[in-house]
Amino acid sequence: AQCDIGFVGLGVMGKSLTLNLADNGFQVAAFDLDAGKVDAAMTQDQVENNGVARVQGCSSFGDLLAKVKAPRTIVLSVPAGAPVDSVCRKLIEAGIGPDDTVVDTGNSLWSDTVRREKKYAGLFMFFSTAVSGGEAGARFGPSLMPSGDERAWQRIKPMWQAIAAKVDPQTGKPIEGAAPGKPITEGEPCAEYIGPNGAGHYVKMVHNGIEYADMQLICEAYHVMRDALDMTPKAIAEVFRQWNQGVLDSYLMEISVEVLEQQDSHSGQPLVDVIMDRAGQKGTGMWTAMSSLELAAPAPTITAAVYARAMSAMKTERVAAAKVLRGPQVAPMSEQEKAETIAQLHDALYCSKICAYAQGFQLMSAAAKANGWKLDFIAIAKIWRAGCIIRAVFLQSIADAYGRDQELANLLVDQFFAEQIESHQGNWRMAIAKATMMGIPVGAFSSALSYYDAYRLETLPANLLQGQRDFFGAHTFERTDQPAGEMYHVEWGTAERKMVKM
Ligand code: 6PG
Repeated sequence: AQCDIGFVGLGVMGKSLTLNLADNGFQVAAFDLDAGKVDAAMTQDQVENNGVARVQGCSSFGDLLAKVKAPRTIVLSVPAGAPVDSVCRKLIEAGIGPDDTVVDTGNSLWSDTVRREKKYAGLFMFFSTAVSGGEAGARFGPSLMPSGDERAWQRIKPMWQAIAAKVDPQTGKPIEGAAPGKPITEGEPCAEYIGPNGAGHYVKMVHNGIEYADMQLICEAYHVMRDALDMTPKAIAEVFRQWNQGVLDSYLMEISVEVLEQQDSHSGQPLVDVIMDRAGQKGTGMWTAMSSLELAAPAPTITAAVYARAMSAMKTERVAAAKVLRGPQVAPMSEQEKAETIAQLHDALYCSKICAYAQGFQLMSAAAKANGWKLDFIAIAKIWRAGCIIRAVFLQSIADAYGRDQELANLLVDQFFAEQIESHQGNWRMAIAKATMMGIPVGAFSSALSYYDAYRLETLPANLLQGQRDFFGAHTFERTDQPAGEMYHVEWGTAERKMVKM
């Protein structure tokens, strides 16, 4: 046995992580149930490394275990769900031991990770590392969210920090330019221990929820420009390119420019005009929304983004409804009005983005309390600055906010973010008002604004709601002029309607 680490699953992500480890000088043993994928990984390794093989292909689980140095680290890059347990069973049959570690890198549901750690205790250490950044990230520097037993982390840390994306500590921006055989070896690695058992997968789940919100917010700005302002995809790309220079500088903004500029070779149209408006989803955004409901930690912008995908998928129904339902009559805008609206949309996107991140971080904080995790929000914001899909200059501002106050109740009350929203909210409100008057759905923008308005108001109409609950169900209410927790009820059914202390 001479390999530092073993891989099971050589799909796009597994193969890319394998080659990334090899570039960083680690010996990797690689196995896949599909022998063709083992061959493909080995071939690519040799091609990229001037004919010299670094990755060792394996023919079985037993062969894999034999090739990795003890205590072994075996990484799973298999689809989330049943395949993870199935591979774990195979590894047990093949003789994996209690001192070995199995690392799940899939988009697993965090509670499955908690369950698995217990289930496999004594047989091997079940560890997890959520990976963000897609194929290019995995190959040249992903953002990694490891969690589980700290002993396992100490073993894996040098490998994970070597292959992770790196941030320039001066600018807070990703260090670019990695290529086959030339990994980035300087800078702050985007791989930090998140916490015990499911913490890493939970944090990755929230990353994806924020990713859904970020994407939908950009899509809403596009929708207003495309349909209400009647702009071409190319013109919108130009606006996004400018936005990508400032506070909205992010990977998702950058790729939106590229998608909008792409011409379709088949039809000669802008590609975006021929892409079917029916969104797919694999469930991580929905899990985030569900968790926010369970923990009573409001994440309405993330949830709105999940709903927007679901609504988009109802294409047939929408086509039928479009023949029956009418929106408002809209007068065309002057060039000056268009320019104003574009500026308003910029601020709406910025403020809504702040709210979406505020929701995501507050959700993580609620989950940490519920599960006894100690999450370091500075570290989390920092490992999202490079490698992952939501990477953005904005993440540095979030790290700074938690640096000012680690116990921050909500990002919105951080001085910097509070001032940002205060100075941009007029435009934010106008953008939503205009979109609404023009009949363009902006569920993510407006849910973010309602979140902000609800969070900043001392008094909400839940007083009436408590009265309603007491009326029909004797659910009782607290009084503003009496100690908290003291419950009152009005005998609504009687003529006197007497108030009683419960
Ligand atoms: C990442 C992405 C990645 C991903 C998901 C979400 O961080 O690299 O979040 O995990 O694209 O698969 O995909 P859906 O949009 O299909 O739910």
